[in-house]
Amino acid sequence: MNEMDAQKVIITDDLKTDLAHFLVTTKYDKLFILTDTNTKEKCYPLIQDIPQLQVARLIHIPPGDRHKNLEQLSAIWQILSSEGASRNSLLINLGGGMITDIGGFAGATFKRGLQTLNIPTTLMASVDAAVGGKTGINFNGLKNEIGSFYPPAGVFIDCTFLHTLDHNNLLSGYAEMIKHALISSAETYAPVLSFDWDKPVDYARLNQMVAQSVAVKERIVAEDPQEKGIRKALNLGHTIGHSTESLSFKNDYPILHGHAVAVGIVCELYLSYKLCGFPADILTRVTHYIKEYYPPFFFDCKAYDSLYERMTHDKKNANGVINFTLLSGIGEIRINQSANKDLIFESLDFYRESFGI
Ligand code: GLY
Repeated sequence: MNEMDAQKVIITDDLKTDLAHFLVTTKYDKLFILTDTNTKEKCYPLIQDIPQLQVARLIHIPPGDRHKNLEQLSAIWQILSSEGASRNSLLINLGGGMITDIGGFAGATFKRGLQTLNIPTTLMASVDAAVGGKTGINFNGLKNEIGSFYPPAGVFIDCTFLHTLDHNNLLSGYAEMIKHALISSAETYAPVLSFDWDKPVDYARLNQMVAQSVAVKERIVAEDPQEKGIRKALNLGHTIGHSTESLSFKNDYPILHGHAVAVGIVCELYLSYKLCGFPADILTRVTHYIKEYYPPFFFDCKAYDSLYERMTHDKKNANGVINFTLLSGIGEIRINQSANKDLIFESLDFYRESFGI
């Protein structure tokens, strides 16, 4: 089996039993659990009495993407080293995308790789970050600048954790589910675009959609684990989304990753409509949905150059050309597309006009 095929994604409604079974049936010498201070308090108690975890060494780091850095990576390496971790050790990453990214990278690099297991605790990590083997840290002011493809031995997704999340964090992860729906099929798209976020969360329905969403990502990653081709489909909404996110950080009003992706989806579906014949009615429908539930991102035309400049630094670009993933319809993916500056600005106009900004 290829290393890239190794990851198993298990959606579970009985994490304790399934994790205990995994630990009993997996060979490792030492066991480590990485959490941040939030997941240590809110999530670790849900599994801490599993007998196999009693010998685990707990590592915790501060929460938040700004701590996904070399200093915290070094702190994790330090503990692995002083506690005698080997290539046969197992590191469980219990947390959101920040923890699965940095823990995955610590695992990928320590003694050239020990086993890792991801237990995502946010919707964003469950449907995206924890699945697919991308690991890394931020460096030099750039997101995920250093990293590797290193699939975990397994991913256990337990939607119970979703009950610990606030509305904005649920919506953030949901933007990736909208993206997965758009790049897959009308059957996946229809329920996602009819989920009502004004009502109390229907967790049973959400859980079903999480499973479908993860399956979309798994299918694509299995086909192209190292993003040479079709995995770029997962970048829909992320070229303009990342520039929006980066600008929000620079301007000191940071927005959640998924909220920035929602902005990117609106703009990039507009580019899809202009360049690839994406249907206008679906563009309108998705834009209305995002407008209904997501907070608007306020910017004026003075920010366009700065946003554009940030797009030119995207690591997906080649030969200085901004690389977009666009669609010509639901599930009809067009990777490696380019758009000129005027059209990109027009897509930003479209966002602002649609949101009344
Ligand atoms: N988050 C996009 C990917 O995993 O490729």
